[in-house]
Amino acid sequence: MTPEPLIGPMATTTASPQPADGASDRHPFLDKNGSKIQALFDEIAPRYDLLNRLFSGFIDLWWRKKAVKSLHARSDSLILDACCGTGDLAFTLLDQVPTAEVIGSDFSLAMLLSGKNRSRTRKRPSLVHADTLHLPFSDHTFDGVMIGFGIRNVVDLEGALEELRRVLKPGGRLMILEFTPVRTRWLRPFINFYQGKILPSLGNVLSGSKVRAYSYLDESVRDWPSAERLADKIRATPFHAVKWRTLLPGNVAVHEAVRA
Ligand SMILES: C[S@@+](CC[C@H](N)C(=O)[O-])C[C@H]1O[C@@H](n2cnc3c(N)ncnc32)[C@H](O)[C@@H]1O
Repeated sequence: MTPEPLIGPMATTTASPQPADGASDRHPFLDKNGSKIQALFDEIAPRYDLLNRLFSGFIDLWWRKKAVKSLHARSDSLILDACCGTGDLAFTLLDQVPTAEVIGSDFSLAMLLSGKNRSRTRKRPSLVHADTLHLPFSDHTFDGVMIGFGIRNVVDLEGALEELRRVLKPGGRLMILEFTPVRTRWLRPFINFYQGKILPSLGNVLSGSKVRAYSYLDESVRDWPSAERLADKIRATPFHAVKWRTLLPGNVAVHEAVRA
């Protein structure tokens, strides 16, 4: 089953209540509102890949290679890359298992279009315009589901985990690649300074973001649960065989799990 690329229309994410004016100096988008998050990624899409490489010193390519291996995709696997953005994880998986079928879904049309215009020489995923909370796929469709740096931005974490579970076949594997609070004490101030000061200032300027997208991205990482707590939420969905590990330099975690 391979849907047409970039199908629509798309179900929308419901907004959560906004705080009273002046209630906090947090980035306003942290009080999650699906359409604002969608607009934020639409805004930064043109330079998203370039800035990812620049800010990670290309280490994100290595994170992705390590992470997609956790899915154990086979030559005939059907894999979903949810919140695929420009398709980085999907392309990485196809480089490793070229005969697999990969569908990328995202609610930012601009991110999907950037992905659609990428490399013509590599096998490419099918791209679908969809909200991760309302995926346009039947129950038990995929052998594996992966989500890279995406689930942190979905307005309802538990709802997203349930939806990813719904579309997985029994025995199918889930992989989540996401930032995580740094555990090594001496490293923490360095990474926090880089992620909290350098990256937002440079990112906001270089992306030309009017909504301070890179400040939101940094604050959303600081708002994110520890790897242990995320593993508990995955277990509660329920998934089993939940495991996680961090990748160097320790600010990124890969969680993997199996659907019963
Ligand atoms: C930080 S980017 C990550 C993109 C890509 N997975 C990667 O590894 O680079 C987060 C992506 O999640 C998408 N996203 C956030 N919430 C979403 C939702 N509810 N449904 C679909 N996509 C969503 C955004 O549009 C954005 O493309």
